[in-house]
Amino acid sequence: MGRRKLLAGNWKMNKSLSELPDFFSTLIKECGSLPQLLEKADLFFSVPFTLLDGCQRFAKMHGFQIAAQNAHWEASGAFTGEISLGHLKELGILSTLVGHSERRQYFGETDDTVEKKVRACLTSNVLPVACVGESRAEREVNQTEAVVTRQMQAVIKAKIGQQGRVIIAYEPVWAIGTGLSATAEQADEVHQLIRSLWEKAFGNMAADDLTILYGGSANAANAKSLFSKKNIDGALVGGASLKPIEFAQMLRALAV
Ligand code: PGA
Repeated sequence: MGRRKLLAGNWKMNKSLSELPDFFSTLIKECGSLPQLLEKADLFFSVPFTLLDGCQRFAKMHGFQIAAQNAHWEASGAFTGEISLGHLKELGILSTLVGHSERRQYFGETDDTVEKKVRACLTSNVLPVACVGESRAEREVNQTEAVVTRQMQAVIKAKIGQQGRVIIAYEPVWAIGTGLSATAEQADEVHQLIRSLWEKAFGNMAADDLTILYGGSANAANAKSLFSKKNIDGALVGGASLKPIEFAQMLRALAV
Protein backbone atom coordinates (compact mmCIF):
# COMPACT_ATOMS: atom_id res chain seq x y z
CA MET A 1 0.00 0.00 0.00
CA GLY A 2 1.41 3.31 -1.05
CA ARG A 3 -0.80 5.63 0.92
CA ARG A 4 0.68 8.19 3.29
CA LYS A 5 -0.46 8.77 6.84
CA LEU A 6 -1.38 12.32 7.78
CA LEU A 7 -2.03 14.20 10.99
CA ALA A 8 -3.79 17.45 10.19
CA GLY A 9 -4.58 20.16 12.71
CA ASN A 10 -7.62 22.35 12.08
CA TRP A 11 -7.20 25.54 14.08
CA LYS A 12 -10.57 26.92 12.96
CA MET A 13 -10.85 30.59 14.08
CA ASN A 14 -8.23 30.30 16.79
CA LYS A 15 -4.68 31.45 17.63
CA SER A 16 -2.82 34.62 16.75
CA LEU A 17 0.57 35.53 15.28
CA SER A 18 2.02 36.23 18.72
CA GLU A 19 1.32 32.65 19.83
CA LEU A 20 3.15 30.96 16.98
CA PRO A 21 6.76 30.91 18.26
CA ASP A 22 5.78 29.30 21.57
CA PHE A 23 3.38 26.87 19.96
CA PHE A 24 5.81 25.54 17.36
CA SER A 25 8.83 25.41 19.65
CA THR A 26 6.86 23.38 22.22
CA LEU A 27 5.49 21.11 19.49
CA ILE A 28 8.91 20.44 18.02
CA LYS A 29 10.47 19.77 21.41
CA GLU A 30 7.69 17.32 22.32
CA CYS A 31 8.08 15.45 19.04
CA GLY A 32 11.57 14.30 20.01
CA SER A 33 12.86 13.91 16.50
CA LEU A 34 10.34 15.56 14.16
CA PRO A 35 12.31 14.60 11.01
CA GLN A 36 12.10 10.94 12.03
CA LEU A 37 8.34 11.18 12.61
CA LEU A 38 7.88 12.93 9.26
CA GLU A 39 9.43 9.96 7.47
CA LYS A 40 6.45 7.90 8.62
CA ALA A 41 3.61 10.44 8.51
CA ASP A 42 2.86 13.86 7.07
CA LEU A 43 1.93 16.74 9.34
CA PHE A 44 -0.01 19.81 8.48
CA PHE A 45 -1.89 22.65 10.08
CA SER A 46 -4.94 24.23 8.56
CA VAL A 47 -4.94 27.78 9.88
CA PRO A 48 -6.79 31.12 9.50
CA PHE A 49 -5.82 33.08 6.38
CA THR A 50 -3.97 35.77 8.33
CA LEU A 51 -1.73 33.15 9.96
CA LEU A 52 -0.81 31.30 6.77
CA ASP A 53 2.33 33.27 6.05
CA GLY A 54 3.56 33.30 9.65
CA CYS A 55 3.00 29.55 10.06
CA GLN A 56 4.60 28.85 6.71
CA ARG A 57 7.94 30.15 8.04
CA PHE A 58 7.97 27.53 10.79
CA ALA A 59 6.71 24.84 8.44
CA LYS A 60 9.49 25.47 5.92
CA MET A 61 12.13 25.36 8.62
CA HIS A 62 10.91 22.05 10.00
CA GLY A 63 9.49 20.17 7.01
CA PHE A 64 5.76 20.13 7.73
CA GLN A 65 2.98 21.83 5.78
CA ILE A 66 0.44 24.60 6.14
CA ALA A 67 -3.01 24.48 4.58
CA ALA A 68 -5.95 26.86 4.28
CA GLN A 69 -9.43 26.14 5.65
CA ASN A 70 -11.34 27.27 2.58
CA ALA A 71 -10.93 28.83 -0.87
CA HIS A 72 -13.20 29.99 -3.68
CA TRP A 73 -13.46 28.00 -6.91
CA GLU A 74 -13.17 31.00 -9.23
CA ALA A 75 -9.75 32.39 -10.10
CA SER A 76 -10.74 36.02 -9.50
CA GLY A 77 -13.71 38.36 -9.66
CA ALA A 78 -16.42 40.13 -7.71
CA PHE A 79 -16.53 37.84 -4.66
CA THR A 80 -16.06 40.18 -1.72
CA GLY A 81 -14.51 38.45 1.27
CA GLU A 82 -13.35 35.37 -0.62
CA ILE A 83 -9.83 34.03 -1.23
CA SER A 84 -8.77 32.30 -4.44
CA LEU A 85 -6.49 29.31 -4.92
CA GLY A 86 -4.12 31.69 -6.71
CA HIS A 87 -3.92 33.82 -3.56
CA LEU A 88 -2.99 30.72 -1.59
CA LYS A 89 -0.39 29.56 -4.09
CA GLU A 90 1.23 32.99 -4.02
CA LEU A 91 2.01 32.27 -0.36
CA GLY A 92 3.24 28.78 -1.21
CA ILE A 93 0.10 27.18 0.28
CA LEU A 94 -0.69 24.03 -1.70
CA SER A 95 -3.53 22.48 0.27
CA THR A 96 -6.92 23.45 1.68
CA LEU A 97 -9.85 21.95 3.54
CA VAL A 98 -13.02 21.79 1.45
CA GLY A 99 -16.58 21.49 2.73
CA HIS A 100 -15.86 21.27 6.45
CA SER A 101 -19.17 20.66 8.24
CA GLU A 102 -18.97 24.10 9.87
CA ARG A 103 -18.79 25.61 6.36
CA ARG A 104 -21.79 23.52 5.35
CA GLN A 105 -23.72 24.29 8.55
CA TYR A 106 -23.05 28.02 8.99
CA PHE A 107 -21.97 29.30 5.59
CA GLY A 108 -24.29 27.56 3.17
CA GLU A 109 -21.81 25.20 1.51
CA THR A 110 -23.40 22.30 -0.33
CA ASP A 111 -22.34 19.20 -2.25
CA ASP A 112 -22.42 21.43 -5.31
CA THR A 113 -19.94 23.99 -3.92
CA VAL A 114 -17.78 21.14 -2.64
CA GLU A 115 -17.69 19.66 -6.13
CA LYS A 116 -16.70 23.01 -7.64
CA LYS A 117 -14.01 23.59 -5.04
CA VAL A 118 -12.48 20.11 -5.34
CA ARG A 119 -12.43 20.45 -9.13
CA ALA A 120 -10.81 23.91 -8.91
CA CYS A 121 -8.18 22.56 -6.48
CA LEU A 122 -7.27 19.73 -8.81
CA THR A 123 -6.96 21.98 -11.86
CA SER A 124 -4.79 24.37 -9.81
CA ASN A 125 -2.57 21.64 -8.33
CA VAL A 126 -3.78 22.33 -4.82
CA LEU A 127 -4.45 19.29 -2.61
CA PRO A 128 -8.06 19.28 -1.37
CA VAL A 129 -8.95 17.70 1.97
CA ALA A 130 -12.64 17.11 1.36
CA CYS A 131 -14.77 16.67 4.48
CA VAL A 132 -17.83 14.44 4.71
CA GLY A 133 -19.94 13.19 7.60
CA GLU A 134 -23.46 12.70 8.89
CA SER A 135 -25.32 14.63 11.59
CA ARG A 136 -26.60 13.03 14.78
CA ALA A 137 -30.20 13.02 13.45
CA GLU A 138 -29.02 11.30 10.26
CA ARG A 139 -27.12 8.62 12.20
CA GLU A 140 -30.10 8.01 14.45
CA VAL A 141 -32.31 7.18 11.47
CA ASN A 142 -29.61 5.00 9.86
CA GLN A 143 -28.84 7.49 7.11
CA THR A 144 -25.04 7.52 7.63
CA GLU A 145 -24.29 5.43 4.57
CA ALA A 146 -26.72 7.34 2.34
CA VAL A 147 -25.44 10.77 3.44
CA VAL A 148 -21.74 9.91 3.18
CA THR A 149 -22.33 8.26 -0.20
CA ARG A 150 -24.12 11.37 -1.49
CA GLN A 151 -21.38 13.68 -0.21
CA MET A 152 -18.69 11.41 -1.68
CA GLN A 153 -20.39 11.41 -5.09
CA ALA A 154 -19.77 15.17 -5.30
CA VAL A 155 -16.07 14.64 -4.62
CA ILE A 156 -15.88 11.71 -7.04
CA LYS A 157 -17.57 13.75 -9.80
CA ALA A 158 -15.00 16.50 -9.33
CA LYS A 159 -12.10 14.03 -9.51
CA ILE A 160 -13.22 12.21 -12.67
CA GLY A 161 -10.85 12.95 -15.52
CA GLN A 162 -8.51 15.02 -13.31
CA GLN A 163 -4.98 14.35 -12.17
CA GLY A 164 -3.90 14.92 -8.61
CA ARG A 165 -4.45 13.56 -5.17
CA VAL A 166 -7.50 14.04 -2.95
CA ILE A 167 -7.66 13.41 0.79
CA ILE A 168 -10.95 12.57 2.46
CA ALA A 169 -11.77 13.46 6.05
CA TYR A 170 -14.68 11.58 7.60
CA GLU A 171 -16.02 13.82 10.33
CA PRO A 172 -19.34 12.80 11.89
CA VAL A 173 -20.91 16.14 12.83
CA TRP A 174 -22.09 14.80 16.18
CA ALA A 175 -18.51 14.07 17.18
CA ILE A 176 -17.01 17.47 16.30
CA GLY A 177 -16.11 19.55 19.31
CA THR A 178 -18.37 17.48 21.56
CA GLY A 179 -15.82 15.26 23.29
CA LEU A 180 -17.87 12.38 21.92
CA SER A 181 -15.60 10.68 19.41
CA ALA A 182 -16.87 7.93 17.13
CA THR A 183 -15.49 4.59 18.23
CA ALA A 184 -12.64 3.23 16.16
CA GLU A 185 -15.05 0.57 14.85
CA GLN A 186 -17.72 3.11 13.84
CA ALA A 187 -15.11 5.24 12.05
CA ASP A 188 -13.44 2.28 10.34
CA GLU A 189 -16.79 1.10 9.00
CA VAL A 190 -17.47 4.43 7.28
CA HIS A 191 -13.85 4.66 6.06
CA GLN A 192 -14.32 1.27 4.46
CA LEU A 193 -17.44 2.55 2.71
CA ILE A 194 -15.50 5.59 1.45
CA ARG A 195 -12.67 3.40 0.18
CA SER A 196 -15.10 1.11 -1.62
CA LEU A 197 -16.81 4.09 -3.31
CA TRP A 198 -13.38 5.26 -4.45
CA GLU A 199 -12.58 1.78 -5.71
CA LYS A 200 -15.79 1.64 -7.75
CA ALA A 201 -14.99 4.99 -9.34
CA PHE A 202 -11.22 4.78 -9.80
CA GLY A 203 -10.12 1.20 -9.28
CA ASN A 204 -8.23 -0.84 -6.79
CA MET A 205 -4.91 0.96 -6.77
CA ALA A 206 -6.42 4.42 -6.41
CA ALA A 207 -8.53 3.17 -3.50
CA ASP A 208 -5.47 1.66 -1.85
CA ASP A 209 -3.66 4.98 -2.16
CA LEU A 210 -6.49 7.11 -0.77
CA THR A 211 -5.63 8.72 2.56
CA ILE A 212 -8.77 8.85 4.73
CA LEU A 213 -8.66 10.86 7.95
CA TYR A 214 -11.01 10.58 10.90
CA GLY A 215 -12.15 13.80 12.60
CA GLY A 216 -14.39 14.53 15.56
CA SER A 217 -12.96 14.77 19.09
CA ALA A 218 -9.82 12.88 18.11
CA ASN A 219 -7.27 13.35 20.90
CA ALA A 220 -4.21 11.81 22.52
CA ALA A 221 -6.36 9.38 24.53
CA ASN A 222 -8.21 7.83 21.57
CA ALA A 223 -5.53 8.25 18.88
CA LYS A 224 -3.89 4.83 19.29
CA SER A 225 -7.13 2.92 18.99
CA LEU A 226 -8.30 4.99 15.97
CA PHE A 227 -4.94 4.64 14.22
CA SER A 228 -4.87 0.88 14.78
CA LYS A 229 -7.69 0.49 12.24
CA LYS A 230 -6.85 -0.63 8.75
CA ASN A 231 -8.82 2.09 6.97
CA ILE A 232 -7.93 5.02 9.24
CA ASP A 233 -4.85 6.79 7.88
CA GLY A 234 -4.70 9.68 10.30
CA ALA A 235 -6.86 12.41 11.76
CA LEU A 236 -8.18 15.90 11.21
CA VAL A 237 -7.98 17.41 14.66
CA GLY A 238 -9.65 20.56 15.98
CA GLY A 239 -9.45 21.13 19.74
CA ALA A 240 -6.44 18.90 20.44
CA SER A 241 -4.40 20.54 17.65
CA LEU A 242 -4.40 23.78 19.64
CA LYS A 243 -2.39 22.04 22.38
CA PRO A 244 1.16 21.38 21.19
CA ILE A 245 2.02 18.72 23.77
CA GLU A 246 -1.11 16.69 23.11
CA PHE A 247 -0.81 17.11 19.35
CA ALA A 248 2.80 15.90 19.41
CA GLN A 249 1.62 12.81 21.31
CA MET A 250 -0.88 12.17 18.55
CA LEU A 251 1.81 12.47 15.89
CA ARG A 252 3.97 9.98 17.78
CA ALA A 253 1.00 7.59 17.94
CA LEU A 254 0.50 7.85 14.18
CA ALA A 255 4.11 7.77 13.00
CA VAL A 256 4.88 4.18 13.88
P1 PGA B 1 -12.59 18.54 17.01
O1 PGA B 1 -12.77 19.18 15.54
O2 PGA B 1 -11.33 17.71 16.95
O3 PGA B 1 -12.44 19.74 17.93
O4 PGA B 1 -13.79 17.73 17.30
C1 PGA B 1 -12.49 18.44 14.39
C2 PGA B 1 -12.78 19.26 13.16
O5 PGA B 1 -13.79 19.99 13.15
O6 PGA B 1 -12.04 19.20 12.17
